[in-house]
Amino acid sequence: MKMKLAGALLLSLGLAVAGAGAGLAQSSADALITARQAEMKTNMKAMKALVSILKGETPYDDAAVQSVAKSIQDAHAASTAADVWNVSTQTGATVKTDAKPEIWSDPAGFAAGWTALDVAVAGLEASHDEASFKAAFPALGAACKGCHEKFRAAD
Ligand code: HEC
Repeated sequence: MKMKLAGALLLSLGLAVAGAGAGLAQSSADALITARQAEMKTNMKAMKALVSILKGETPYDDAAVQSVAKSIQDAHAASTAADVWNVSTQTGATVKTDAKPEIWSDPAGFAAGWTALDVAVAGLEASHDEASFKAAFPALGAACKGCHEKFRAAD
C-alpha cells in the first residue's frame, strides 16, 4: 500500500513535471514569436515615418531619419539578443506566426535578408540631406519586401 502510494505520487509528480516542461517550452515560443512580431511592428512604424518624409507630408529632418534608422537597428539587436528565431519558435502554442519553414531550412538565405536590412539602415545613417535620404530609401523597402517574399507567409 505504501509502495503503491509512493509510486502513484512519483508518477503524478513525473507527469506534472513533464507537463510543466512542455508548457514552459510552448509559452517561451509564444513569447519569442510575440517579441519578433513587436520588432516587425517597430519596423512598420519606422517605414511609415520615412514614407511620410519621402512624400513630403512630414518635412525632411536628418535627426528624425537618424532616429528612425536607429529604432530599426535597436529593435533588431534586441531580437537577436533574445534569439527570437530559434528553431523552437516554428510554431506557437497560442500565438499565430507567419514565419515560413524556409527560415530554418535556408539559414544562409535568411541571414542574407538581415544583411540586406543592415546595409539599408547603414545607407540611411550615411545620408544627411534630403537628396541622399531619397536615394538611400528604396534599399530599405527592398530589404523588407525581399525577406517577406521568401520567409513570411502571405496573410
Ligand atoms: C530577414 C527577414 C525580414 C526582414 C528584413 C523584415 N521582415 Fe518583417 N517579417 C519577417 C517575418 C519572417 C515575419 C513573420 C513573423 C512571425 O509571424 O513570426 C515578418 C512580419 C512582419 C510584420 C507583421 C508583424 C505582426 O504583427 O505579425 C510586419 C508589419 C513587418 N514584418 C514589417 C517589416 C518591415 C516594415 C520591414 C523593413 C523595414 C521588415 N518587416 C523587414 C521577416 C522580415
